Amino acid sequence: MAKFVVNGGARLSGKCRISGSKNASLPVIFASLIARGTSEIDNLPDIGDVRVALEIIKRYGASISKKGNTTYINTEKLRYTEPDAELVCKIRASTYLLGASAVRFGRARLSPFGGCAFSPRPIDMHLDALLSHGAVLSDNGDITVKRLVPSVISFKKRSVGASVNALILAAGASGESVIEGCALEPHILTLIEFLRSMGADISLEGDTARVRGGELHGGKVRIGPDMIEAGSYLALSLLTGGGITVIGAEESELSSFLEPLLESGAEISRDVGIRLCSRPRKPVRIVTGPYPEFPTDLQPIIAPVLALSGGSIRDTVWEGRFGYLSELSRLGISSRIVRGVAEIFPSELKSGNATAPDLRGGMALLMSALSAEGQSVIDGAEVILRGYDDPVGKLGQLGAEIEYVDN
Ligand code: EPZ
Repeated sequence: MAKFVVNGGARLSGKCRISGSKNASLPVIFASLIARGTSEIDNLPDIGDVRVALEIIKRYGASISKKGNTTYINTEKLRYTEPDAELVCKIRASTYLLGASAVRFGRARLSPFGGCAFSPRPIDMHLDALLSHGAVLSDNGDITVKRLVPSVISFKKRSVGASVNALILAAGASGESVIEGCALEPHILTLIEFLRSMGADISLEGDTARVRGGELHGGKVRIGPDMIEAGSYLALSLLTGGGITVIGAEESELSSFLEPLLESGAEISRDVGIRLCSRPRKPVRIVTGPYPEFPTDLQPIIAPVLALSGGSIRDTVWEGRFGYLSELSRLGISSRIVRGVAEIFPSELKSGNATAPDLRGGMALLMSALSAEGQSVIDGAEVILRGYDDPVGKLGQLGAEIEYVDN
């Protein structure tokens, strides 16, 4: 297991440029499979999950090259193959293979999908999307599609992953499909932009997407900034003394994250980027929800900030997503869970050893270690590197003493 060794307590300051969004990159990479041609993707982040996704599509024959900040994916010579179980179980986004493979090859296969295991992660809505487009699922997990038909689907709740598959399937089907209850996260909008550039005609009214699919070709898109990485460095600024300016983030995507912090006494300044300073002074209450509500992926990140003045978190997207709190307690953060709500008590952060339970929980540990005086060791560094681009380089530039050690 790799680890980060941190000597914490310094006031971190300087500029931090935000990389391309993980959760926008992954749908686009898998969606590139559905048409013949070359797709151009600008600004993919250099993170573990993107590397695994590119490796997965290479197994189908995609040829990948890079020039500057642009990645080219050529999909002329694809052939169906059984998904590589070892790779597929590393990332959650391999569920997008269900839709992409069904469109391109008329077949797909259920396989144990990976990703952060903070909660049960059902795929019933992904399967509903496949079945409504004419797929047949057999008991052994094989999915076959004789003729991909357009469909009308109404999702029971907002799901990023199921919306990705529904959009990919609808783009591949000739005729008009309707997706009611489509997720609206910025990463979904990036996928829509990419599918449009491939030739799909997509309109979005509220949370209803109308997709006219069919003949497609290679597409082109620029991956926007990662709002979760941006929120992470903004929270770190509050924790370590208010000196980090985040560059390249979309402030409008972060409104629901910034609002409770500003209400509780944090201050924002804007020049070349945005910076949060002045610690919260009042308890903060967080309730997560689908975009544009407070993002679930930022609730573990805000937990160490809540430890400054107290607060509570209710996660309505992943109700059990609090496993990281027991690891945070090793760094001095005191909390308890009462009827599904995590109460975080004002705490003095201290150095210690802890293990990243998942991507965002791992980042919360690293941030706490950076703000506590003394040496901390965060095990499971590779989990954090799945979703954060060059944290050692970026944090080092801000004045952190951090080392990546891979034994
Ligand atoms: C995506 O996961 C993200 N992953 C997650 O980020 C994020 O936490 C989540 O969306 C919510 O924003 C990627 O984009 C790769 P969902 P996903 O389907 O698509 C229920 C990170 O740290 N549901 O939007 O798997 C589900 O139980 C990761 O970057 C069903 O009931 O999440 C949950 O309550 C962690 N049936 C809700 O929908 C289904 O078939 C939202 O899940 C699918 C989902």
